This record gives sequence, C-alpha cells and structure tokens, in this order.
Amino acid sequence: MAWKPGLLLPLLLLLLGPAPARSFGQLPLVLNTWPFRNATVAAWKTLAAGGSALDAVESGCATCEQQQCDGSVGFGGSPDESGETTLDAMIMDGTTMNVGAVGDLRRIKNAIGVARKVLEHTTHTLLAGEAATKFAESMGFINEDLSTNVSQALHSDWRARNCQPNYWKNVIPDSSKYCGPYKPPTVLKRDGITYEDTAQSYGHDTIGMVVIHKTGNIAAGTSTNGIKFKIPGRIGDSPIPGSGAYADDMVGAAAATGDGDILMRFVPSYQAVEYMRRGENPTTACEKVISRIQKYFPKFFGAVICANVTGSYGAACNKLSTFTQFPFMVYNPLKSAPTEEKVDCI
Ligand SMILES: *[C@@H]1O[C@H](CO)[C@@H](O)[C@H](O)[C@H]1NC(C)=O
Ligand SMILES: *[C@@H]1O[C@H](CO)[C@@H](O)[C@H](O)[C@H]1NC(C)=O
Ligand SMILES: *[C@@H]1O[C@H](CO)[C@@H](O)[C@H](O)[C@H]1NC(C)=O
Repeated sequence: MAWKPGLLLPLLLLLLGPAPARSFGQLPLVLNTWPFRNATVAAWKTLAAGGSALDAVESGCATCEQQQCDGSVGFGGSPDESGETTLDAMIMDGTTMNVGAVGDLRRIKNAIGVARKVLEHTTHTLLAGEAATKFAESMGFINEDLSTNVSQALHSDWRARNCQPNYWKNVIPDSSKYCGPYKPPTVLKRDGITYEDTAQSYGHDTIGMVVIHKTGNIAAGTSTNGIKFKIPGRIGDSPIPGSGAYADDMVGAAAATGDGDILMRFVPSYQAVEYMRRGENPTTACEKVISRIQKYFPKFFGAVICANVTGSYGAACNKLSTFTQFPFMVYNPLKSAPTEEKVDCI
C-alpha cells in the first residue's frame, strides 16, 4: 500500500506537532472496491456535510446504483436467465451491529436505500424477492422496470449463444450445449466439472464500501446486480452479513467482491475483521482471507478490502491470468483527492 505509517507519520508529526489521540489524521476514511470514484466522492461529501458513517455508505452505494457503475451495480445490468435485473444490497452499522439487507430485489432501483429502511424500520436483517419489493413500495420507493436496451441486448445475445455461459450442472439437456428448461437426469453421473477462471467473463462487480467517521463510528455496505445470466432467485454474497461486508467499531471493517457463490462459503468479511481483532494489520488480514479460499478454489475471482479502527487499510485479491491487480478507492485527510490505489494479487 502507498500508505506507509512507518515513514509518513514521523514526518507529519514533526511538521504538524502532536496528532490528536488515535486518529493520526487518518480519519475519516472512505474505502471502496474498484475505481468507482464518484461513489467515494459522494460518501466523502456526505461526511463533510455532517452525515454519519451509515449516511456516507448509503450515498456512496446509491451513487453507483444511479450511475450503473460498470453495469454491475443498479438497474439495466446483469440480466438473469429470464432477462430481468435483480438487486442485492446490505448496510451494516458497526456501532450497534444492526444490519439491513435485501436480496433478489425486483423493480426497485435504490437497493441500498431499501436495505437502510430494513435497518431503520424493522427488526429483521434480510428481506428477499417480491416481498422485499412490496416492503420497498410501502416505504415509498417506486416500482419500475429495471431492464434497459443494454440489458435486453445482453440477454438476447446470450439466448443466441445457446444460453452460454450458465450455472447449471448435471442436468438434461446438457447445459454446456443447450438452453433449458433443465431437469435432473435419472442417473446422476458426476462429471468432475472443474471451477473455471471467471474473471474474464464477469470483470468488475459489486461496490463494497467501508466508512470510518472521525468519531470512530464504522459502517460498511454493498450493492450489486449480481452475475450475468444467473438462475432466477440466486442471491450472492453481497447482502449476507459477514460475507459481502462486516463492520465492528471495536476493530474495523471489510468488504468483498468477486464470485459471490464461492465467497459466501467463507464469510470473508467477518473473517478479515476477526483476523484484525487478533492483531493482524489490514493487509495481512485481507491476504489471509484470500489464501483460505485459494486452498479450495485456486481459480476463484475475488478481492477483499480491509480497514482498522485507526484508519489503516489494505486489500488483497486472488491472482488469475486475466486479473493480476485489484484497483480500489481511498479517501482520507492525508489525500487531497479521492485516490485510486492498486494491490498486486497473490
Ligand atoms: C461521475 O460523475 C460525473 C458528474 O456527475 C459524470 O459526468 C461521470 O460520467 C461520472 N462517472 C462515471 C464513471 O459514471
Ligand atoms: C431502446 O429501444 C427502443 C425501441 O426498442 C427505442 O425506441 C429507444 O430509443 C432505445 N433507447 C436507447 C437509449 O437506445
Ligand atoms: C491498524 O493497522 C496498523 C498497521 O497497518 C497498525 O499500525 C495499527 O496498530 C492498527 N491499529 C489497531 C488499533 O490495531
């Protein structure tokens, strides 16, 4: 990481005199996955206007939803097998350990906004599918089509390619050649399907964001439209607390991005926070999470960002042929502008 406390801090202290206790000028911090700069700016502006860490995470992720960051957040991206775009989002308050989340949300654009309403107005954690849409409508959100010409074109191209790629296995007709509907075969023949390197086909996905307020309150959140051509009903890691993101004021926070079907089996954001609780620095915590998954899925596509309470941060990613560096955004008082940094994958 560009941030080297060992070198920079003594210099700053010399120039500026004693730093206030604990913050070392590193707070507040906005940290998010991918070069989604406008999201970083929105979160930072929210803090500057007196907003909380939760407000900042919400506005940062909502910006990506409106601007359809990389086509992988918000409406008009990642159509499922039926051509519909559905959204997953979560927001977590590291002060109270409250979480609001939505999975497989349909026909509502502002998924992180609905997640915030789950947090603020219910004692539940996660709402899903059509019923989550009903909840959103009751909270004042507009029910509207999330399809666009772009998502419709993606879907018709996929149909024209015999529905390749898809996420079925061990079915008839053969899912590697034909479209569905599929059925289980009468005799299940294990075909030893190996997990393929998916970075090329899916590229960027999911905004994951961590915000530490200058008072030390921490929030984390995610928003995504999932993966292209998913089986309808599929919910990824993003809205699952501890998987997509996790925050604890006592320790720090983390967020993950990549192949959610793999990531969620390892609860990576929770695990990263637990490594930091045990004394690991953020970079090591992130790396340890990636290495645990690598042992089972050497070709998984994924990255994690980590920050501790004092505002130090790090990231790690799994190295693939097409994905060797992971870019992420950082904004703190030591930077004059939101800054893109890159970490080499391991
Ligand atoms: C960022 O925001 C600016 C101004 O609001 C907009 O012109 C630009 O297209 C946005 N960038 C992306 C990548 O959406
Ligand atoms: C989308 O497609 C419709 C017709 O299918 C067309 O009228 C409209 O102009 C298209 N919109 C864009 C932004 O291309
Ligand atoms: C946060 O991480 C930095 C190293 O990156 C470390 O120096 C600092 O002690 C950590 N803070 C806490 C509270 O563990």
